[in-house]
Amino acid sequence: MKRMISIVAAVLVLGFPSAASAGRPDPEAGKEIAKVVCAACHGLDGISLVANYPNLRGQKVKYLIKQLEDFRSGARQSPLLMYPVAQKLSDQDIRDLAAHFANMK
Ligand code: HEC
Repeated sequence: MKRMISIVAAVLVLGFPSAASAGRPDPEAGKEIAKVVCAACHGLDGISLVANYPNLRGQKVKYLIKQLEDFRSGARQSPLLMYPVAQKLSDQDIRDLAAHFANMK
């Protein structure tokens, strides 16, 4: 029990190392994915240059996560564009991407 408490305390003090941070959003990691995968359609700065492609810059975290999960599951239909993209994203990727776009004001 004592050991457990000290482990918890150490984690609280040190924070999670990013590799083992299941659940903690990392906007920098999101930025790297966005540069490679999303920028072609949604713009490097989250502002899209194509009329049918939505802007993502400054969008809310919860909304972004919900849309990406829905594209991945097919609940939101975008069979040719977002469905194949979202298939490749892990839960962590989705959180990281949402944090990245939401952080861009
Ligand atoms: C091939 C072009 C393309 C790529 C690549 C792409 N998207 Fe999309 N994205 C779209 C289009 C088109 C839509 C609108 C889909 C619809 O609702 O018909 C969309 C919609 C979205 C939405 C919903 C926005 C809203 O306002 O509801 C989110 C979030 C999103 N994309 C995130 C991403 C992320 C994150 C990536 C990179 C991992 C990405 N997209 C890569 C074309 C793309």
